[in-house]
Amino acid sequence: MKKISVGVLLVTLAVGVYMLISKKAPTTPYSMDEIAKHSSREDCWMAVEGKVYDVTGYIASGMHKGKDAILMGCGKDATEIYNNRPNGSGAHSKLAREVMVKFAIGVVKQ
Ligand code: HEM
Repeated sequence: MKKISVGVLLVTLAVGVYMLISKKAPTTPYSMDEIAKHSSREDCWMAVEGKVYDVTGYIASGMHKGKDAILMGCGKDATEIYNNRPNGSGAHSKLAREVMVKFAIGVVKQ
């Protein structure tokens, strides 16, 4: 009996740890009206391909290679400029896509 309880406890712990480390993409829905409220350097959200990103911290970090160009996307659906940058360099790289995952906060409400 005791052995079973220890087993159950271990399985529960393992499931808990797995849930903690396997981060799922956020699914909170945000309307374009809500996104539009976050349109400044100090508070910048944008939609790209149906997902919503809060890139305020990324802008503040100064890590964006395209510098202030990113501000063009604040408060908007930035899919078009993200995939067709205004400086003529085309779409963002795979690396950029990996970076942005960290800033995802939800999905665009349909
Ligand atoms: C989630 C938001 C964004 C992330 C994570 C991001 C990330 C990056 C990264 C990593 C680069 C380096 C080149 C590359 O890997 O493609 C880059 C370059 C660039 N980004 Fe963004 N970006 C974002 C949004 C935007 C937006 C909305 C614009 C608006 C036009 C923009 C404009 C540019 C430009 C023009 C460059 C080229 C810089 C150069 O090489 O001269 N980015 N971005």
